[in-house]
Order: sequence, then structure tokens, then C-alpha cells
Amino acid sequence: MTKKRIAVFASGNGSNFEAIVKACNEGAVNAEVVLCVTDRPGAFVTQRAYRAAVPVVEFRPKDYPSKADFETMLLSHLKEKEVDLICLAGYMRIIGETLLEAYPGRILNIHPSLLPAFKGADAVGQAMAYGVKVFGVTVHYVDSSLDGGKIIAQAAISYEGTDRDDLEALIHAREHILYAEAINKVLPTI
Ligand code: GAR
Repeated sequence: MTKKRIAVFASGNGSNFEAIVKACNEGAVNAEVVLCVTDRPGAFVTQRAYRAAVPVVEFRPKDYPSKADFETMLLSHLKEKEVDLICLAGYMRIIGETLLEAYPGRILNIHPSLLPAFKGADAVGQAMAYGVKVFGVTVHYVDSSLDGGKIIAQAAISYEGTDRDDLEALIHAREHILYAEAINKVLPTI
């Protein structure tokens, strides 16, 4: 079976980007990461991409009149690279109609909570402030709602401490495994 082609969108650190690349390179996921897209030029994810020899598209949303304009620009790169699946990995932006219509059922997102709890920004901070004892991670399809698309995979993480760095390390470690599992679930359907 030919390998499906993945683009990873990220705004920051890019540890999930790197984990997806690694899973593909090791054959744990039968796909190839062919593009890294970031809306924050110079974000650490770009260094990870250069190290992994994955081409990068960097853009500044404010350089475009509208979301439709920058998504049209992104779409031309996605088409050129023959991308089959888009994985959002810490891409802190709502996906618009242009990409949703071009990639129906082919855009995934990872969110650091057990959705539908703690949607939106700083989900880990929200959950800590609430005092939950079971945190979690969700991979879901992206639709036009905020963190609201159909769930593909979830994992729970019990944590009763108060150290955010410790908790985030646990969450990231779980995310890196769960995203590969979720991609494997989706690949046969696209
Ligand atoms: C991850 O924890 C991901 O779940 C979160 O951003 C982090 C990115 O980490 N995404 C969201 O909060 C989306 N709403 P990374 O840059 O190291 O992959």
C-alpha cells in the first residue's frame, strides 16, 4: 500500500510533530510527514523540521487580508506536496472553511484534555484550576466548532500533584503515543 502523506501544523515547540515523524520513520505509522506548516515563523518546531529534513512553510497570518487568503496559500502547498492528511499539533488557530472543504474528514487535532471538558486555550491550566484528579488527552476530527469534532482516541492520566511541569511531561508523553494510534485508526479510511 502506498504511504499516505501527512502535513503537520504547529505553532510552537513541536514535540508532537517530532513524535509523528519518528513513528512514521520507524514504521509504526505507515505514512510519511511531507510538510510542516507554522503560523509562527521561527517557532522551535521549525528547527525540529530542518533536523528531520521535512520542508517547512512559515507564514504570518497578519500578512494576509483574511483567513481564507492564507488558507488558499496553504492549500497550494498542500496540493503541491500531495498531502492526504493534516495533523494539527499545537496549532493554535481555528481551521476555516477553505481547508475544511478541501480536506473533509482528513484534518485531526490533539487537545490536552478529556474532551468535551476544558475546550480552548490552556486546557491544562483550566483543569488544574478546577482541581481534577484525572487529566487526559484527546485526538479528534476537526470541524468548524472549537475542539468539538468527533473523537478518535482518548487517554486518561491520573495525577494528584500540583507541579505543572511534571503534569505536562506526563501529558506530552501520552500525547506522543496517542497521536500515532489515532493516525493508524484513520489511515485506512482515507
Ligand atoms: C500539546 O499539548 C497539544 O495538545 C496542545 O498544544 C501542545 C503542543 O505541544 N494543543 C492544544 O492545546 C490545542 N488546543 P507540542 O508543540 O510540544 O507538540
